[in-house]
Amino acid sequence: RYSTAQVATCLQTIAQSDDESIDIDWENLGFNLMPTDYMYLTKSCEDGHFKQGQLNPYGNIQLSPSAGVLNYGQGVFEGTKACRRDDGGLFLFRPHQNAMRMQIGAERMCMPCPSIDQFVDAVKQTALANKRFIPPPGKGSLYIRPLLIGSGPILGLAPAPEYTFLVYACPVGNYFKEGIAPLNLYVEEDLHRALCGGAGGVKSITNYAPVLRAIKSAKERGFTDVLYLDSVHKRYIEEVSSCNIFLVKGKILSTPAASGTILEGVTRKSIIDIAHDLGYQVEERLIEVEELNNADEVFCTGTAVGIAPVGSITYKAKRIEYKKVITSKQLYSRLIGIQRGVIEDKRDWIVEI
Ligand code: COI
Repeated sequence: RYSTAQVATCLQTIAQSDDESIDIDWENLGFNLMPTDYMYLTKSCEDGHFKQGQLNPYGNIQLSPSAGVLNYGQGVFEGTKACRRDDGGLFLFRPHQNAMRMQIGAERMCMPCPSIDQFVDAVKQTALANKRFIPPPGKGSLYIRPLLIGSGPILGLAPAPEYTFLVYACPVGNYFKEGIAPLNLYVEEDLHRALCGGAGGVKSITNYAPVLRAIKSAKERGFTDVLYLDSVHKRYIEEVSSCNIFLVKGKILSTPAASGTILEGVTRKSIIDIAHDLGYQVEERLIEVEELNNADEVFCTGTAVGIAPVGSITYKAKRIEYKKVITSKQLYSRLIGIQRGVIEDKRDWIVEI
């Protein structure tokens, strides 16, 4: 809890934050945690609604050792970005989509969730309070991480008695340390990211720790990230640890169907719409791992990753190489064009803040 005086100081600092200079090497941001000024925080009431939240100085939070999230992994998160335009305007990209996805995830994990308006308002407040951390145009973005956790204490396996919704932010550049170089993916055959009937289709925190071992081992062997197969047949591609995947063959784009084990990325959805606009046919379907051999081009999409071309995929010790980046470049420039305001935003994706 913060005193009225602390909150007043907070608000005064926010008002001043535009004038404050900041010493950040915008050219070399990467995807690394950097403390920013403020985070938004609120807790659930007994009726499952969330109290009006407020901005607090960014910092540690207190949790009971028996908090639901610490013991039973009851938590979901989101990722969205605030960006700066050439004219200085600030915007968010489709935050309502993240709000809706958090609601679906919360329902799956048996948690109450902030309303769509409360979520979007919290994201806006966090972005504006930290606006001095929003990189100059073209240098990156402010990655915003809404997090919903079972913070109340619980011993037996049951939903937590109280929930915390918080939103923090961090300026970021390229997700992978390799920068914008095409990704070298490794097809993992033994470890799986998601199971039928599991929580792979939502952004549960429990989806992420189980893939760390596969990522670590792939990185040690020089790969950028891991591509997972379905856990039943071990035959269909699903997604990469941090992003969705698309295959290109002529004017047809294929991506694994979001049928419970694939996260429905906001960038994935947007790229599907943009591809249609550009005259591509898009198939959301089962994709055999062997089809990787016949693709003209492969690329990944995600909020953190953006749109990243794939340079190679290694499956059963065979390296398949992709030389083309035409489609991913075309889709990327369309998306960036909409975000920069030079292509009409006919679907109202951009939320000015
Ligand atoms: C995102 O793209 O926002 C994610 O949450 C992926 C995460 C692995 C950084």
